[in-house]
Amino acid sequence: MNLFEEYVKGYDFGNKKIEVKYRHTLRVKVLCELIAKDLGLDKEQIKLASLCGVFHDIARFEQVKRFDSFDDYTTIDHGDLGYEIFLNEFADKLDLSEKDKMIIAKSIKYHNKHKVENVNEEELLFTNIVRDADKIDIMYIYANVPGMIADGEGEITDDIREVFYSHKSIERKTADCSRETVVLALAFIWDINFDCSYKIIKENKYYDKIKKILNNSVYDEFFEEINKFLKEK
Ligand SMILES: [Fe+2]
Repeated sequence: MNLFEEYVKGYDFGNKKIEVKYRHTLRVKVLCELIAKDLGLDKEQIKLASLCGVFHDIARFEQVKRFDSFDDYTTIDHGDLGYEIFLNEFADKLDLSEKDKMIIAKSIKYHNKHKVENVNEEELLFTNIVRDADKIDIMYIYANVPGMIADGEGEITDDIREVFYSHKSIERKTADCSRETVVLALAFIWDINFDCSYKIIKENKYYDKIKKILNNSVYDEFFEEINKFLKEK
C-alpha cells in the first residue's frame, strides 16, 4: 500500500479525475478483501486479492496525466499499460513469489477486458474478484458522484438491445452513441461473478439510484430487465 501511496503522490490531485481514481482504488481494495473473505479464501489469498485491488487501476494515473481521459477506446488500454507498470515498477519491490506477482499482473491486464484469456485457474479467480470489485465500485460512483453518468443522446439500436437482453456485456466499439454507452454501463450486471457481489449491489440499491440520475424513460426497459434478474439472485 505504501508503494502505491508513494507512486500516486507524483500525480496532480488538483485534477478531479486523479482524486476519483485514487478513492476508487481504496474502495476496490476493500471490496476485493470482502469478496475474497466471502469466498472463504485464506489469509494469504485475501492479502493477494487486496493487492490486486490496489494495483488494478495503476495506469489510470498515467492515462489521466497523458490524455486527461478515462476512455481506453480513444487513448490507451489501461489494463495493458497497468500490467507493464506493475511488472516494471512494482513487482521487484514486493516480497511475493513469481507466481503471485503474475496473478496480480494478469488481474490488472484483464480486469477491463471484454474477454479474459491466457489465464490459469488461479489467475482467473483473482481476475474475477477484481472485475467484480471494480464494477461494484463503478456502480457506486455512478450512483454517488455527480456527473459520472448522465443521459446521453442518439438512438439505442436493436443490435445493442439484442446483446443486452441476451445478458452479455456490450463491447465498447459497438456502442455508437452516448445513450448506447449508458446501456453498456448498465449491462455490467451481466458480467458479475460472485453471489456476494450481487448482494452488495442489491443492498446498496445502485440501479435505483442510477435510474433516478438518468431520469429518462428510454432506459426503463433495461432497468426492468435488471431488476427482474436481481430479484432471482
Ligand atoms: Fe480499471
